[in-house]
Amino acid sequence: MPELAPHVRDVPVNQIREITEAAWATPGAIVLSIGEPGFALPRHVLDAGIACLDRDETNYTPNAGIPALREAFAARFREQQRVQIGAERVYVVDGAQQGLHFAMSLLLSPGDEILIPNPGYPTFAMTSRLLHAVPVQYPLYPHNDFQPHIEDIEALITPRTKVLILNSPSNPLGAVISEEATRQLMELAVRHDLWIISDECYEAFTFDVPHVSPARFDSEVPGEARVFTSLTLSKTYGLTGLRIGALMCPPGLEQKMNNVMESIVSCVASPSQYAALAALTGPQDYVSQARDHYRSNRDAASALLAEKGIPFLGAQGAFYLWADVSHVSNGDVRTWVRKFLAESGVSFAPGTAFGSIGEGWIRIALCGGQQDLLDGVGRLPAKL
Ligand SMILES: Cc1ncc(COP(=O)(O)O)c(C=O)c1O
Repeated sequence: MPELAPHVRDVPVNQIREITEAAWATPGAIVLSIGEPGFALPRHVLDAGIACLDRDETNYTPNAGIPALREAFAARFREQQRVQIGAERVYVVDGAQQGLHFAMSLLLSPGDEILIPNPGYPTFAMTSRLLHAVPVQYPLYPHNDFQPHIEDIEALITPRTKVLILNSPSNPLGAVISEEATRQLMELAVRHDLWIISDECYEAFTFDVPHVSPARFDSEVPGEARVFTSLTLSKTYGLTGLRIGALMCPPGLEQKMNNVMESIVSCVASPSQYAALAALTGPQDYVSQARDHYRSNRDAASALLAEKGIPFLGAQGAFYLWADVSHVSNGDVRTWVRKFLAESGVSFAPGTAFGSIGEGWIRIALCGGQQDLLDGVGRLPAKL
């Protein structure tokens, strides 16, 4: 067989998928390793997708998405983040993952450096490598409550640094970046003339703290604005399989965005776009019910971890708990989660899936049923 391109060969394995696929193949396993919201979709969202098919509205849509959906995303962002954004800056994408790939394709040349969080979502590194760029991890340390520190990031900036990725609320940490820290990160980007890609997948789920988008502090002047905001309906509305989200762009890039979109997927499937429109413009009570459920899961699982003496980070958002199992993982948490699945029938994502600082930690997904969650966390060995 001819050789694969080296940048593809070097894309690391996604350890979340590795353990989750092993768990799916284990009869009766409790799967707490993946962020798949457990609730059923409301009827009006399903009906909107089905109605689109019934009308046989199955042709290409504009590259950037149907106008009503772009406007719905823009209206939501204006209202929640007080950002003056029109529909022309909204690109409907195949989920946040495609939004990230889209933004990175637009910004990165081979050899460019992109700053990504450690611990952070695995595809930040995978997608960078696929684009021949160089992911450079900025540390989020336990002693700083896993919050980004400006000096740590600034020390890594070189003439090749092009992009800073932020992710708040964070997967895997459940940490939320404060308004003041967001402003300082924005100032850092301006000082070093960096783009920001802000992954805000979990913006709908914060507990008692606000979600603040860096776009709030961005310039509105074309040529000076620098923030791309990546949003998805996968988490907010549990539409993971419909693959639908939005990338909000700085002004003045419309033609460039169309060109890149055309060369990646042309446009998103029309039934997904109509289902998304119904989700964004219809009743929102199921989002608040989901938030209450995650909060209740967080509180119950946190209490159980505390009872067992297992240290964890108090989650302020998203639907994950980040727990320290170094008392049992023997310096190799990736191997330990496999062993724990085989012996105890529960899967957790190993912290190393998210970077070297995750060694000794696990990510516990809070988005399923509470009984399974407590049963699974209950099987963790206590720290005496
Ligand atoms: C931080 C983060 N970014 C991006 C994604 C990808 O989301 P989507 O399903 O919308 O592609 C996820 C999914 O888990 C995520 O947690």
